[in-house]
Amino acid sequence: MVMQVPQFDGVVTPAADVAVDMLFVPVFQDDADASVAGVSGLDAATAGWIGQARASGEFRAKLYEFFIVPATSGWKARRLAFVGAGKRAEITPERLRKIAASCGYTARLRLVTSAAILIRDGFEPLAFASTVADGLSAAEFDSGVYKADQTSEGRFPEQLIVIVPGGDRAALQAAVLRGRVIGDAANQARMLANEPANVLTPREFATRVQAMGVAAGLTVDVLDDTRLRELGMGLLLGVAQGSAEPARLVVLRYEPAGPHAAKTGPVLGLVGKGVTFDTGGISIKPAEGMDRMKDDMAGGAAVAAAVCAIAKLGGPHRVIGVIPMVENMPSGTAIRPGDVLTAANGATVEITNTDAEGRLILADALWYAQQLGATHLIDVATLTGACVVALGKTASGLMGAPDAWVDTIRTVAGRAGDRVWPLPLFDEYREQLKSEIADMINAASGRGAGAITAAWFLREFVTNDRPWAHLDIAGTAWSEERKAYQPKGATGAAVRTLIDLGMTAGA
Ligand code: BES
Ligand code: MN
Ligand code: ZN
Repeated sequence: MVMQVPQFDGVVTPAADVAVDMLFVPVFQDDADASVAGVSGLDAATAGWIGQARASGEFRAKLYEFFIVPATSGWKARRLAFVGAGKRAEITPERLRKIAASCGYTARLRLVTSAAILIRDGFEPLAFASTVADGLSAAEFDSGVYKADQTSEGRFPEQLIVIVPGGDRAALQAAVLRGRVIGDAANQARMLANEPANVLTPREFATRVQAMGVAAGLTVDVLDDTRLRELGMGLLLGVAQGSAEPARLVVLRYEPAGPHAAKTGPVLGLVGKGVTFDTGGISIKPAEGMDRMKDDMAGGAAVAAAVCAIAKLGGPHRVIGVIPMVENMPSGTAIRPGDVLTAANGATVEITNTDAEGRLILADALWYAQQLGATHLIDVATLTGACVVALGKTASGLMGAPDAWVDTIRTVAGRAGDRVWPLPLFDEYREQLKSEIADMINAASGRGAGAITAAWFLREFVTNDRPWAHLDIAGTAWSEERKAYQPKGATGAAVRTLIDLGMTAGA
C-alpha cells in the first residue's frame, strides 16, 4: 500500500472561504458572546445554534469538548466543529498543542479527509500556527501497528490547514512546517518507545536511529561491543553482559552549515537512556507492570528524534547525540549485586542493585559525549521510580548544575510545552553513594531521595563543572490511560525541549 503523504498548510483567508470536510473553531469558556459571533464570518444561523447550545449547557467549551454542526450555505466547509479551549487567559503552548491534537484525533476517528483549524484573534499567529501544526501531527501517531484491523483507529486526514486572521502567508507556511517537523519528531520517538523489546533490540534500535540520522543528513557512528571494549566502557558493557543481545552506542552529529552556522559557541551534548528492556537484571523486578519496561529507551528515542529534527530545522549550533543501547537481563552471565565495574573514566562502581542500570550506561555515555567535545550537556532518562513518587506522571524531574544551566532548561521546557520541576542536588545526598570497596555504589538504599541520588551518580561523570542537566522522565514518558489528545502509551516527553534547546541553546 502506498502511504498518503499528509499535506500541512497555512492560509490567511476568512474561515468561511476554506473548503474542507471539517473546520475546527476553538471556543473559550469566557468568550464574551455565547454564540462566538466574534469569529469573523460566523453567520446568524450557526451563531444561533452555538448560542443555544451554550445557554443550555450542552456545550460548555470545556477543554477537548466538541460541538459539531453541519455548515450553513455561507461556508465552504462541510461541517463546523467547535472545540472547547478552556479559559482564554489559561492558554499555554502545551494546552494549545493538546487542543489541536484532540482536533486531529476527532478528524481521524471520523474519517475526515480534509480539516482546517482556525486560530482565534488575539494570539501571536506564527507561534500559534507552529504549535497547532505540531499538535495536529500527534494524531498521525499509530499506537496499534500490530493490530490486524488497521482501520479501528480511523484515518489521518490527507489535508490539514491552519487558518490565521492576518499576516504573511510565506511566514505562516514556514511556521506550519516547523510545527510539523516537531510533531513528526515526537511521533518518531513515541513509535520507537512503543515498539516491543523483541522487535526493538539494541541492534535494531541502533539500525533505526542510524537510518533516521542518515535521512536527516547527520553523521552517524554506531559503536559495537568491540569498540566499546576498546573505549573501556565497563559500565555499559556490564549492564549488557546478561543479555544475549550485544550493546550498541549510537552517536549522531549535527554540524550547521551556511552563513548562520556558529563555528564557535556551545556544542550541545544530548544523551538519552536506551535500555530496550529493563527486567531489573538479577535484582529482578516484580511481574506486575514489567511489560511497560519496553519504554526504558524513551530518553534515547527522544534524543534521536530531536537531533534529527534540529538538523531538518537547520539549527545554528553544533549538536552531538549519544545513545547507549542495552537490554537489562538476568542470566548466567549477568552482573551480580556486589560486583565491581570500571567506568570509561576509570572510576570504580560497586553494583548494589542491578536494576539501577540506567545511570551506569549514562555515565559512560556522558563521558563519551565530553570526549567528543560537548560543552553543555543534558541527559534524558526513564531513570527512577522515585521520581514518579515525587512528581507523579505530571512533570519530569529536573536536576543538574550549575543553577544557571538548570534554570535555562527549565525555561526552555516551559516554553516547549514539557512539564519539568527541579529537585535539589545538595551535597549531603552524595553521601548516600559511598562504597566500602569502590569509588561509589550504584544504588543508594534506604534514606530516600532516589531520583536525586541517581542524578548525583551521573554528576560524578561530568568534568570541570561543565553545564549539565538531567531530566528524569520515568513518570512522563508513558501515559497509562487514553486521553482526548493521546492514546495510551509513549508520549514523546522531552522531545520538544531538546529541539528548542538545539535551536536556541537556551537563549
Ligand atoms: N527503568 C527504571 C525506572 C522506572 C521505573 C521507569 C518506573 C519508569 C517507571 C530504572 O532502571 C529502575 O529500575 N530504577 C530503580 C532504581 C533503584 C534500584 C535504585 C527504581 O527506580 O526502582
Ligand atoms: Mn532498572
Ligand atoms: Zn531502567
